[in-house]
Amino acid sequence: MQIVIGTFLSIVIISSLFSLVNCSIGLDDPCQITEKVLFKPAEISSCFDSLDYDQDRATKTIDTLQQIVSQYIFKDLSKDSGPPFNIQIDLDEELAQIAKTKYDNDFLMHQAINNVFKKLYDAHTMYHKPWCYSAMFFFKPFQIYAVQSPDGNDPIVKIKGPTLTDDWFIQQYKSAYGYDLNSYQDKVIKTIDSIPAWKHITEQSQDVWVSKDINARLNEYLFFDFHEIPLAYENIPDEFVELEIENDKTIKFPIVGYSMFSYTNSSDFHKNCLKGVLSSTRDFKKNIIRENANSKNLLPPKRILHEKLLTSLSTTKQQDDQEEIPEIQSKHSSKLATETKTKTGTETETEIVNIRENTMNSGELITILKKNYGISFKIYNETNLKSNSETLYGIIRIYNFAPDNVQGFKYQIEQIYDYLYQHNVEYLVIDLRNNGGGIIDLGYQLFYYIFGTEEYQDPKIGNYDFRHSDLHYEMFSKCALNEECLNEKDNFFSPKYWLDENEKGFDSNIWYFQGNNYTRGGNIHEYSSLVHDHVDLSWENTNELYYKPEKVIVLSDGRCGSTCAVFAAKILENKLAKTVTIGGKNDQNAQASAISFPGGEVEDNMFFLYQNYLFSSYGITLNTIYPNFYSDQQLTFAWREIYSMNNVDNGRKDKNSIKNEEILPLEFTFLPSDYRILNWDLENDDAIIPQTILYFNYVPTPTPTPTTTHQTNQKETAEPISKHYYILFISGVLTTILILLLIIIVFVFKLRKQSKSKTTHKLIFDVDGENEDGFGFSLETSSDSFQDKNDDEQSSIDNESQ
Ligand SMILES: *[C@@H]1O[C@H](CO)[C@@H](O)[C@H](O)[C@H]1NC(C)=O
Ligand SMILES: *[C@@H]1O[C@H](CO)[C@@H](O)[C@H](O)[C@H]1NC(C)=O
Ligand SMILES: *[C@@H]1O[C@H](CO)[C@@H](O)[C@H](O)[C@H]1NC(C)=O
Repeated sequence: MQIVIGTFLSIVIISSLFSLVNCSIGLDDPCQITEKVLFKPAEISSCFDSLDYDQDRATKTIDTLQQIVSQYIFKDLSKDSGPPFNIQIDLDEELAQIAKTKYDNDFLMHQAINNVFKKLYDAHTMYHKPWCYSAMFFFKPFQIYAVQSPDGNDPIVKIKGPTLTDDWFIQQYKSAYGYDLNSYQDKVIKTIDSIPAWKHITEQSQDVWVSKDINARLNEYLFFDFHEIPLAYENIPDEFVELEIENDKTIKFPIVGYSMFSYTNSSDFHKNCLKGVLSSTRDFKKNIIRENANSKNLLPPKRILHEKLLTSLSTTKQQDDQEEIPEIQSKHSSKLATETKTKTGTETETEIVNIRENTMNSGELITILKKNYGISFKIYNETNLKSNSETLYGIIRIYNFAPDNVQGFKYQIEQIYDYLYQHNVEYLVIDLRNNGGGIIDLGYQLFYYIFGTEEYQDPKIGNYDFRHSDLHYEMFSKCALNEECLNEKDNFFSPKYWLDENEKGFDSNIWYFQGNNYTRGGNIHEYSSLVHDHVDLSWENTNELYYKPEKVIVLSDGRCGSTCAVFAAKILENKLAKTVTIGGKNDQNAQASAISFPGGEVEDNMFFLYQNYLFSSYGITLNTIYPNFYSDQQLTFAWREIYSMNNVDNGRKDKNSIKNEEILPLEFTFLPSDYRILNWDLENDDAIIPQTILYFNYVPTPTPTPTTTHQTNQKETAEPISKHYYILFISGVLTTILILLLIIIVFVFKLRKQSKSKTTHKLIFDVDGENEDGFGFSLETSSDSFQDKNDDEQSSIDNESQ
């Protein structure tokens, strides 16, 4: 009898368990998605499958895209850019193709659009799926890095640590799958999905879309794309990543997903995907918040998403150190010196100097100013053990040009320069690794602060033109005729926003209409005359400390984008520093670009929607506005091109000539660094900085040595997975039971939570603009960031400066 009861009970338990499981993992309703609960790729696939492809939506989307894309400044050039990047994509044609194709579900139609934009390799230009998809991310559990192999073979790939160092994530992953992510730190990864790890990285990084330079793409893959998969523009990944780890068997680590929003059921999810056109005041209010955040911190989708994600994962604010306490943070003893080797070379080629151990020098990396306003400052204090003399190297790291407070940025630089001056620091490293740019004017101003000797005084600011378009034509004309709009100094379309090349202001938008025809990207277009934003140009290097080119190194990992790229390009082109890049392809002869996606000013369709709203508040009706998307998807794109800062007339050879096809915008220019360090531990200052400073004293060998690249044929084959099936089976069963139990707990917890509070759908645009250092940034022209209200920061400056 007891046995019978027992059996009966367990049947009841098991069946109720299954029904719970069904609810929880979404078999009943595949779109029951709970925020802050990890899900599997298959689960989200079945949810996405529930929203059918719809021809009408596809047509509308493509139609809207094509109209907005007509504003994409590199549209013509991207059809056939020629060397060095050879971009060949006809956006109109490819988009039209999508409109003709039938997809298995709604999501895949959007993915097809993403795949088209990816081919531009332009971090400024990307389609962003509706937020029901875009607010979801998948993660491989680990971040990775690589170091040079001592035997000259492919770099050794290692585990950096958990993808999200957030306790919540590590905990969730452990309880769901049993892996303690912290315990894999620094272990060597031999294969990834049965492919030798480095080969996998090289292959996969081809598809990273944020840079036209493959070296920067490779670094970005190591740093970001390997582990983080935002559905805003990526497809749903495989269920597992299979890693063969040193001294360990091959492990299939589940790839996990996360949603920033919760959905009760499919119809709830679909409703969010098909939100309808954003047009109400309420929508715009939300947008304005985002616009404000973006006008300082114009993030492209990738980083916006990343930041949102981090904010939503962690309730505690991430650390952006606001104190300015000089303190010693790390001690480092290094053994170094140079041994020169290799390479043929014209001046412009990247040279690799191999580092060999040497005990002559030792040094310490000392943090003088912690990261503040996107800038940190360290000193490398090198002692020559033989002569007992010491040399000081200043390391200024600029994480971005998008500080919350521009004055704070400048103040930090001034403090650094005071230090450099007072301590007689002999060498300067300008560290631009992983810098996604920001405010272009600030880029110019920093350039003139650091290099503004007499020779490089002019122009102090970049002047750009606009390609004429019907929409802008209407906006610029109507704004100038409306008193309110005209006097709105901060409105982009007001004449008061602009200054001409001689710092003269305008009463009307005559500069826009006073155009000229120029051939760019193979087509003749009409362009405005050259203007820039009204900016305060009064910033000066009061120490008058200017370093000679042989005393300055620009350090990059190729991921110096947008404003950073424009800033660095000016230094490179004028040979005002040596340039060193790290990482990239493991090829002695590979040329690595120091910069990425300089692009041009970037906007998205929301900007135009917002402007339309703003114009209607002035009582202006616009006839030529672009259609809205049917839902809340977005398109970010470059819409003003930028040429080298050396081309003071923005790419025009001769203002009266329409022949200037030879000049390419910076976006399509390859600017190789002088030297390359083969180290893919991209954020490891203790390793990177001592290697970098070696190049100060390095003199290139004039004798060209032909390099023979030894092709090591990897005969590494993936080891088969453990054959102890029964162990696998038992552990599988145990894991299943564990998972089931977990699911029950989660479910019960969720039920309790739901009964307490109804799930609210937070919407999208609540970016607070507090971006961390971000790769993937934009040219931004706002000059009024001086008024940014970050009271804490402002008061700290005030206090300090008293
Ligand atoms: C789906 O969820 C929405 C929002 O919570 C709710 O209003 C609706 O009744 C649900 N529909 C079904 C079929 O459960
Ligand atoms: C550099 O190191 C030397 C010797 O260790 C020491 O005397 C000096 O104070 C250090 N300088 C700085 C700026 O830390
Ligand atoms: C530019 O070319 C177009 C078409 O040929 C012409 O209509 C227009 O007047 C030209 N604009 C200027 C400023 O020369």
